[in-house]
Amino acid sequence: MLRDLAKYHKPAPRYTSYPTAPEWGALGSSTYLENLKSFAKSDKPLSLYFHIPFCHKICLFCACAAIANRKIENEKRYVDALCKEIDLVTQALGKKLTVPQIHFGGGTPTKLSEKLMSQLFEKITTSFEIDFSKEVAIEIDPRTVSPEKLRFLRDLGFNRVSFGVQDVDPKVQEAIKRRQSAEMTEETYLCARELGFEGINLDLIYGLPYQTRKSFSRTVETILTLRPDRIALFSYAKVPWLKPHQKAIRDETLPSTEEKFKIYEAARQAFIENGYVAIGMDHFALETDEMARAYHDKTLRRNFQGYTVEHAEDSIGFGITAIGYLEKSYFQNLKGLVPYYTSLNNAELPICRGLILNKEDLIRKWVIHTLMCTFELNKEEFAQKFGLNFDHHFAHELEKLEESELIHITPQKLIATPLGELFIRNSAMVFDDYLNKKTTQPQFSQSI
Ligand SMILES: C[S@@+](CC[C@H](N)C(=O)[O-])C[C@H]1O[C@@H](n2cnc3c(N)ncnc32)[C@H](O)[C@@H]1O
Ligand code: SF4
Repeated sequence: MLRDLAKYHKPAPRYTSYPTAPEWGALGSSTYLENLKSFAKSDKPLSLYFHIPFCHKICLFCACAAIANRKIENEKRYVDALCKEIDLVTQALGKKLTVPQIHFGGGTPTKLSEKLMSQLFEKITTSFEIDFSKEVAIEIDPRTVSPEKLRFLRDLGFNRVSFGVQDVDPKVQEAIKRRQSAEMTEETYLCARELGFEGINLDLIYGLPYQTRKSFSRTVETILTLRPDRIALFSYAKVPWLKPHQKAIRDETLPSTEEKFKIYEAARQAFIENGYVAIGMDHFALETDEMARAYHDKTLRRNFQGYTVEHAEDSIGFGITAIGYLEKSYFQNLKGLVPYYTSLNNAELPICRGLILNKEDLIRKWVIHTLMCTFELNKEEFAQKFGLNFDHHFAHELEKLEESELIHITPQKLIATPLGELFIRNSAMVFDDYLNKKTTQPQFSQSI
């Protein structure tokens, strides 16, 4: 398998959206307003995403939209702005909509004080009909929560948590400037269990400085003793042109591509041997977890949070950089705090870009996400959904895949091979119309 690495190791989108974000263009608040209004008439369920960008300090590897902050006033101003944004959105919607799915991401949402979190929750629950029996999820940095804070979050209504771990090795932690003892991770995890959080996820990253198969096997062992419901095993996305702080990680400290792949393979095997189901390209879940069930039922979905158990196709994003998908269109908020505040002070929704998907986009979105979420595609299902013959519509793409070791093509189906499961992004790229038409290769993180 290793001989194939060079061939498949190339820049590849993660397809948390299709078309990918670089293809979006200017889209203003007037289109967003129209979509909000028409969505409100549809009676469809809605999911909400809240982006809280603040962190105590930026970890050197981080590719998230995160801002180092130590001043509570900045966080207060941000929460006030979020509340204004909610008001503008609910005015446009004109009624209290049902919400079966909420996700707080960041940055570090738990950096907000209990007072600010309560203020925000009060606004959310008075503006939307939240179904607390479904999913209310939050990303947590274990270094920012005490048992009391976890209880507070549970009492507010959060029922799913995801903890950032990355690697338990002190040498790796020092190199990425993220010190977090294995004991702290364990205590936080056990406390969350005791409080009855479900779908507990731990984030790991492979490809970090000084990682080796041996060193990472200790991280894997530590995680396996905790037995979280889910494990996200992300490939280190090196994107220094977007995140200049990553340049502080020297290239010579990183594992080679070959070693990085071996680290991934060994971890993947250990998870599978210990009862986890490999879901999509970088997620693992216990058979008892709803995400594993969704994978088996083929109802797993892909969105900006990665793989998800979907309760609503449409979503609204709040906060800087936040992305939503409403009435077959992507919308993204302004990226800087100052323009975000200015827009809200002018009573304008802070949307700056996005894309209204055309018919071909929707067809290819379905194909790409189906491959990413199920590792296969049923041509008959495609025909029923879109009224098109798969082989005719994608004759050019099928020709490209003819010799592929990644996808097995039968008269009825496309099925990823075991190697193809690991490199599912590469097969998805074949169906990306925008990439196909490009003459120069755009910048994405590498597929391994
Ligand atoms: C918003 S953070 C999680 C919450 C919290 N801020 C923390 O770090 O614990 C989301 C996750 O993205 C992942 N991540 C961030 N930067 C990454 C990168 N460059 N490559 C791969 N994964 C990355 C990490 O695993 C991190 O836990
Ligand atoms: S990994 Fe988490 S804590 Fe570290 S900078 Fe990124 S968002 Fe903040």
